[in-house]
Amino acid sequence: MKIELNQNKVYFNNGSVKKEIHPFWLRERVDGEEFLDKGTQQRLFDPTTLSSEISINTATINKQFLEIDFNDGIKSKLDIDKLALEFSNEDTVIRSIPKIKWNSTLENIKNFEYQDSFFDSKEMYDLLVSFYKYGFVIIKNIPTEDNFIVKFANSIGSVRRTNFGEYFDVKSKPDPNDLAYTSLELSPHTDNPYRNPVPCIQLLHCIISEVTGGLSTLVDGFTVTEDLKKENPDFYKILSEVKVRFKFIDKDVVLEDWSELIKLDDNKNFKQVRFSPRLDYVPMLDKEKLDLYYKARKKLSEMYNSEKYRIEFKLAPKDLMMMDNYRLLHGRTSYEVKEGNRFLQGCYIDYDSTEGKLRHLKRKFNI
Ligand SMILES: [Fe+2]
Repeated sequence: MKIELNQNKVYFNNGSVKKEIHPFWLRERVDGEEFLDKGTQQRLFDPTTLSSEISINTATINKQFLEIDFNDGIKSKLDIDKLALEFSNEDTVIRSIPKIKWNSTLENIKNFEYQDSFFDSKEMYDLLVSFYKYGFVIIKNIPTEDNFIVKFANSIGSVRRTNFGEYFDVKSKPDPNDLAYTSLELSPHTDNPYRNPVPCIQLLHCIISEVTGGLSTLVDGFTVTEDLKKENPDFYKILSEVKVRFKFIDKDVVLEDWSELIKLDDNKNFKQVRFSPRLDYVPMLDKEKLDLYYKARKKLSEMYNSEKYRIEFKLAPKDLMMMDNYRLLHGRTSYEVKEGNRFLQGCYIDYDSTEGKLRHLKRKFNI
């Protein structure tokens, strides 16, 4: 990527394409100390109040700086490397971490160990990178006193409160308002598909585990839907086009949201899966379309529930699992209440927490 000049016009050239940079775009980036607060990196002027007739009187390149005199009398010296970072519209920190597809053969994934000063450590950076690669991570040795999960969540970012509270206790209880609070098997699902927006990340902390069952299960929705795209493109297409209604009813709230089971981004790449077959209602479409939809949903469910894609493991007391609720499905095997106690605590955080922490640690350790 190179900056080039021609008759007071500034161009960027990436080797194959040469484009003029709008003078206003450069004027907005003037960063002298009267224009940009050095601490917050926030503008000290409002570019919407500038004349839209901004142009360049003179422009020169001096080593790594682009020096410009604008027609409104402002002179600037812009760092070319800093400008170049903006030529890509992608979030280079998060998107540069490749998602690694996995299935039941996944092994040797690194667990992390909680220790003092954990949240601002290089270990925390590695943990977050691993989380974005695999969609989950397990941290051992997390204190189990005083709802420590809330402190943990708030040390990465901030807890995302839901109608289940700031955090929730997962143990079997009488008169449950969700199947999670029974000892029954829970087949793979994503949490809170009826919420807008859906909580991004679930934390689950094991406090007591005295039963032989109650294993945690995880499935990579990214792997499954990519396989479906290859094997049954018609099924993949309809599941990524039809929006269905998810609904949750409790004593004092009715939550509802519409989404595709496979949600794609603007570039038709994987963005999110929602799957909770006790809560989804497809609209009344043409019979032929519904015919295809039901076949597709059945196939997707069979894949999510297949041993080929599922990993199973037991969380021990002090283990905390952090999982991406937009990418993974989770569940558990049943357990026998009379064998003893099983007690986990859970809460949610959103992507701004993990992304903000990751960018901060990357800056801190100059990675
Ligand atoms: Fe769940």
